[in-house]
Amino acid sequence: MDFDMDERIVSSEFNSESDGDIELSLRPKTFQEYIGQEKAKENLKIYIEAAKARGDQLDHVLLYGPPGLGKTTLAGIIANEMNVQIRVTSGPAIEKPGDLAALLTNLSDGDVLFIDEIHRLSKSVEEVLYPAMEDSVLDIIIGKGPSARSIRIDLPKFTLVGATTRAGQLSAPLRDRFGVIARLEMYSPEELLQIVTRSAGILGIGIDEKGAMQIASRSRGTPRIANRLLKRARDFAEVMANGSITEETAKIALGRMEIDPLGLDYIDRLLLTSMIKNYNGGPVGLETIAATIGEESITIEDVYEPYLMQIGFLAKTPRGRVATPLAYKHLGFPMPGQK
Ligand code: ADE
Repeated sequence: MDFDMDERIVSSEFNSESDGDIELSLRPKTFQEYIGQEKAKENLKIYIEAAKARGDQLDHVLLYGPPGLGKTTLAGIIANEMNVQIRVTSGPAIEKPGDLAALLTNLSDGDVLFIDEIHRLSKSVEEVLYPAMEDSVLDIIIGKGPSARSIRIDLPKFTLVGATTRAGQLSAPLRDRFGVIARLEMYSPEELLQIVTRSAGILGIGIDEKGAMQIASRSRGTPRIANRLLKRARDFAEVMANGSITEETAKIALGRMEIDPLGLDYIDRLLLTSMIKNYNGGPVGLETIAATIGEESITIEDVYEPYLMQIGFLAKTPRGRVATPLAYKHLGFPMPGQK
């Protein structure tokens, strides 16, 4: 079969003009359009301006934080602000050292290589990355046994932008090779309100401020969720009302999607309810709770727990997870020891 390996493991989603894709057109392309993440944004702006003034490429950047906070978007903005191309790939897509070698040798000087889920790179692929990150070279072993020899190939100077849900998942040698490490935070409801309003403008959705606030305050600090709820609320508004999202239509839509006033969905409530009912509110181990509700423990850890901890409903202790009094109250359970 004839295939271009490069095609298989990268997508050039930011260079293509196939912006018929709504998801892409919602992504801000400049820092000016990008709402929130002030700390990461302000520092990145300085590093980019300084690198540009020196005529250097930007140092390698590691972005970490829960899913849906805009790591891919920021990588696209970094490339755009540096006036370079971006190549987008992910840890699991780079299976063999040769896959990475093909990617690296195809870059142009200054390009951004974005590796999502970078913690999922295999050890053998990581080892190819080290000299590439440090000295822009590729060390290749040719042959086997006593006749094996190593040759060195110069690579274009590039900026690696890596993304991961938790910096702690990365091996120390890889983490140490990033010159910039930026942590993304959950968004405030006010920031999400601005994002929902901006997205509605781009998509041509009528929405009033109270309707937008309903969506923003139930999006668990995550723009990806806010944009998804906005589109579903539009469906309800179009079918059940005059197409415009008001506080009332937003409330109906969110209720139908089983998203409560704090943004908890069915799984969040199932997680907390089974901790309370089956394990007296904890402490209970992650694996135990995962098996009880039939979810992957990694999903619980990366997707559900960050928000539940942020709003003070769940605590991690050395002996396991604990549901807090706030969670009992929200779900309508009496506190232990009370009737
Ligand atoms: N859409 C998704 N994330 C965004 C952000 N941080 N700013 C503006 N629009 C967005």
